[in-house]
Amino acid sequence: MDGVTVINHPLVQHKLTIMRKKETSTAGFRRLLREISTLLCYEVTRDLELTMETIETPMQVIQAPVLEGKKLVFASILRAGNGLLEGMLELVPSARVSHVGVYRDHETLEAVEYYFKAPESLSERLVIVVDPMLATGNSSIAAIDKLKERGATKLRFLCLLAAPEGIRNFQEAHPDVPIYTAAIDSHLNEHGYIVPGLGDAGDRMYGTK
Ligand code: URA
Repeated sequence: MDGVTVINHPLVQHKLTIMRKKETSTAGFRRLLREISTLLCYEVTRDLELTMETIETPMQVIQAPVLEGKKLVFASILRAGNGLLEGMLELVPSARVSHVGVYRDHETLEAVEYYFKAPESLSERLVIVVDPMLATGNSSIAAIDKLKERGATKLRFLCLLAAPEGIRNFQEAHPDVPIYTAAIDSHLNEHGYIVPGLGDAGDRMYGTK
């Protein structure tokens, strides 16, 4: 599928299967989410640009590669996006973090922002937007709208599971934002849940219901 990268690394697929199981505990789900997010982060940053820097090893002066440009931004869509952050920050501890909270007004159907915090110079940074589930796509589309309004131009979207309906909506709204996911599931049910999915990601990681 154009614009969508399915991260089919065996460790990712194995961990995802355990996360899907309904008997997996909150503690287990959270641990797996941290582990899998590290692996997903590795893949979503695979093609970052490098630049050469002069350094001195104990033996000699050399030119060695370092990441080019300003620090990355990980933008978490509240609340479930936070579950992906921890593992990602383990891998890229210098990344800046943005939090975006949006909900859809039932009457106007407009996305209402209830929280937004982002670092300076969004326009000069790669922003990796994270939310475990790309279901209808409404919240991720709205969150990316808000990030673009604040200047973000280079974005990627990272999730665990995506529904074909969500991918379609997302790509119509933001064709310039590549999607990275561990799997594309069958469909959405009448309540907007991904099937077969893993249930409500927020509830599963925080033990709420
Ligand atoms: N959000 C979730 O947490 N799970 C779904 O299946 C869909 C949206």
